[in-house]
Amino acid sequence: MEYVKAARTADFSAVSKIRITLKGNDILLAKFEGDYYAIANKCPHMGGSLYDGRLEGSNIVCPRHGSVFDIKTGKTVGKGKLLFVKFSAHSVMSYPVKTEGEDILIGIE
Ligand code: FES
Repeated sequence: MEYVKAARTADFSAVSKIRITLKGNDILLAKFEGDYYAIANKCPHMGGSLYDGRLEGSNIVCPRHGSVFDIKTGKTVGKGKLLFVKFSAHSVMSYPVKTEGEDILIGIE
């Protein structure tokens, strides 16, 4: 795994999440309580763009059917709902993140 520069801390001066493509991976990079977290942007249920979802604390809500994922771990923390049926989506992949000065780096294969 290598750490690749993904963004700068200044990119978060007015927003709490951004969407980036890194080595072909579609990634949601979010800031929560001063730390940065990266997860795959694609919802494991039916591919919704998590970037387009609501960030509620450290949780991101999929805009398509409402599954909730913890941006710190990628784990599913809330069920989605399709028509009248509730379901539990798989967890989403998370990536390690570190900062070096003003740079935000993501660990990627
Ligand atoms: S696509 Fe995300 S919950 Fe269905």
